[in-house]
Amino acid sequence: MRQPDSATRSSPTDSRYFLAQTIARHAGMMALEFFRRRDQLIIEFKGTQDMVSAADRDVESYIKAQVRAVFADDGFLGEEGGVDNTEAEFVWVVDPIDGTACFVNGMHSWCVSIAVLHRGEPVIGVVFDPNANELFHARTGGGAFCGALPIHVHPGTSLKDGVLGVGTSFRVGVDDFIPFLDAVLRDSGMFIRNGSGALMITYVAAGRLIGYFEPHMNSWDALAGFVLVKEAGGRCNAFLDNNGLLRGNPVIVANPAIWDRLALHAGKVTAKRSGDTREVAATPH
Ligand code: IPD
Ligand code: CA
Ligand code: CA
Repeated sequence: MRQPDSATRSSPTDSRYFLAQTIARHAGMMALEFFRRRDQLIIEFKGTQDMVSAADRDVESYIKAQVRAVFADDGFLGEEGGVDNTEAEFVWVVDPIDGTACFVNGMHSWCVSIAVLHRGEPVIGVVFDPNANELFHARTGGGAFCGALPIHVHPGTSLKDGVLGVGTSFRVGVDDFIPFLDAVLRDSGMFIRNGSGALMITYVAAGRLIGYFEPHMNSWDALAGFVLVKEAGGRCNAFLDNNGLLRGNPVIVANPAIWDRLALHAGKVTAKRSGDTREVAATPH
């Protein structure tokens, strides 16, 4: 009797989990080829300090084609290609290259980020860093891993016990970020920004960073990392509130022991926006 293949034996979510890992690896290797020939890329500006090249577009097209070839009815939301059927049961949320500023300037902190939502809930998170050859992956209820190794959030109990990741962009104002840094430094915290928010959220899951704050990120930057952080024992804000999938929201992720402290400092910039839906989205999920 013919044995069913592994995809047939798997649940619908498991099948997508395995596929997301395979696609992320291949997409990352494709991006790495562009990276090695980056002097030939034409860089365009989408906004202030917001760049894109053929590498971002081609890698996203590749990912979308791979998903479509297996799961033709799934929805897809990519940074470069826009929205396609986000009402579907499963929706793929993809940033083909997160950390484009690093990528085009020859630095190594960039990655491929793939999340999958099931009925609106993020259930799969895969982040691949081709330069470090690290594949981070998580599925709701299945734990978080770097390759085959389980990962866990940082054990620290105060900001001074570890390094905080931070990020910002010109989608928000300077005053939506600087007061947060002031509060962190006065609380004996220290921060880094490596230029890839998706990778830094992932580092929270891996216990390398104690937490991460950014006043506004898009869903393709954040959602894969959110699944990883939750599965690694961390806590996340309610990113999808108020149409966060399409509009984005603040990102506050950390180990549970310091999340409230981080949210308090983040509140210095998120809460002052009276009437701004991002204030609501900062409450924990
Ligand atoms: C950006 C990076 C950056 C973060 C920004 C993102 P991109 O994504 O993740 O670290 O601060 O909010 O937009 O443009 O490199 O894909
Ligand atoms: Ca991004
Ligand atoms: Ca990107």
